[in-house]
Amino acid sequence: MNYAGKRVLVTGGLGFIGSNVAVRLAREGAAVTVLDSTVRGCGANTHNLAPFSAQIDVINDDIGALSTYHSSVVGTDVVFNLAGEISHINSMRDPVRDLELNTTSQLRFLLALRDICPGVKVVYASTRQVYGVPQYLPINESHPINPIDFNGIHKHAAASYHRLLTARGELDATIMRLTNIYGPRMALNIPEQGVLGHFFRRALNGEDIEVFGDGQQLRDPVYVDDIVEACLLAGEQKALPNTNMNVGGLEALPLAEMARILVAEAGSEVRFRPFPDGHKSIDIGSFSTDNSFIREILGWAPTVPFATGARLTLEYYREHREHYLP
Ligand SMILES: NC(=O)c1ccc[n+]([C@@H]2O[C@H](COP(=O)([O-])OP(=O)(O)OC[C@H]3O[C@@H](n4cnc5c(N)ncnc54)[C@H](O)[C@@H]3O)[C@@H](O)[C@H]2O)c1
Repeated sequence: MNYAGKRVLVTGGLGFIGSNVAVRLAREGAAVTVLDSTVRGCGANTHNLAPFSAQIDVINDDIGALSTYHSSVVGTDVVFNLAGEISHINSMRDPVRDLELNTTSQLRFLLALRDICPGVKVVYASTRQVYGVPQYLPINESHPINPIDFNGIHKHAAASYHRLLTARGELDATIMRLTNIYGPRMALNIPEQGVLGHFFRRALNGEDIEVFGDGQQLRDPVYVDDIVEACLLAGEQKALPNTNMNVGGLEALPLAEMARILVAEAGSEVRFRPFPDGHKSIDIGSFSTDNSFIREILGWAPTVPFATGARLTLEYYREHREHYLP
């Protein structure tokens, strides 16, 4: 890849996906600036940038405040826009907080960005949640949009801002609709962040892994290194023919099967329990991704099976445990 010497901005770069992107870019020789306000309840963790902390410039501010320090952003070649609140549960508990983080701040950011870096390439992390309950599987980009929680609605609004500004020629955005991502640097200490973090935390603590319902809901998890690769490939392409791009995993597995794979590595048990209050109403059932478009346009395909990714993830947390599960 050709990122050596490029100026890149990674929003949300102290969090899970953003830090993996930032570290990889630093490794590729890019000049990396991270913009992250360390939002309480999100996955920011300064250890995430190790061992490249000294090379990466970190601005601790809300993305919506971009106009106040825009000199740091002038001349940026590519923006990886990964800031956001990912918790569906939190968005139902406090929809206005989610609106501010995922939508208002994003709009302010994009309006400032189009003035400071007109036409700049932006890779935005959207979510499979915008599709709501699947009408068919695997889901392609033509599937109707029908989010069933506030997070999905707000993420879709933010994606629409990217699309509008791209159609007007003011930015050049690619919107990645990500499925469940896992791997090193996830915030395991935040139960609201989703099912895989919950599974890994319990496995590492030697606790039973709890699966809600019968565990037959399919997910197609992607190991974070595969996502980083997809983001970097997208960041190199100008004016792609469709702004929306699904990014899903190598295999669709029932959640119960993923729990069993973890248990085999971490020596605990799988336990089934009814959905807790608030979870069932925002559960989408089964999900799997049709990756045809991203494969055709970027030549990207996921490479890491869940069993391999789970082992690599457990290895990372065993080595860095004190920074994630003190
Ligand atoms: N992790 C997944 O499985 C997944 C799946 C689909 C989509 N996504 C999307 O990917 C992006 C990154 O997710 P993640 O898993 O890395 O989450 P994360 O919580 O680990 O990281 C998000 C980071 O964004 C920062 N942030 C949030 N709002 C901000 C704001 N307004 N200004 C500045 N910083 C802000 C937080 O401090 C945090 O460090 C999110 O937008 C999320 O919606 C993630």
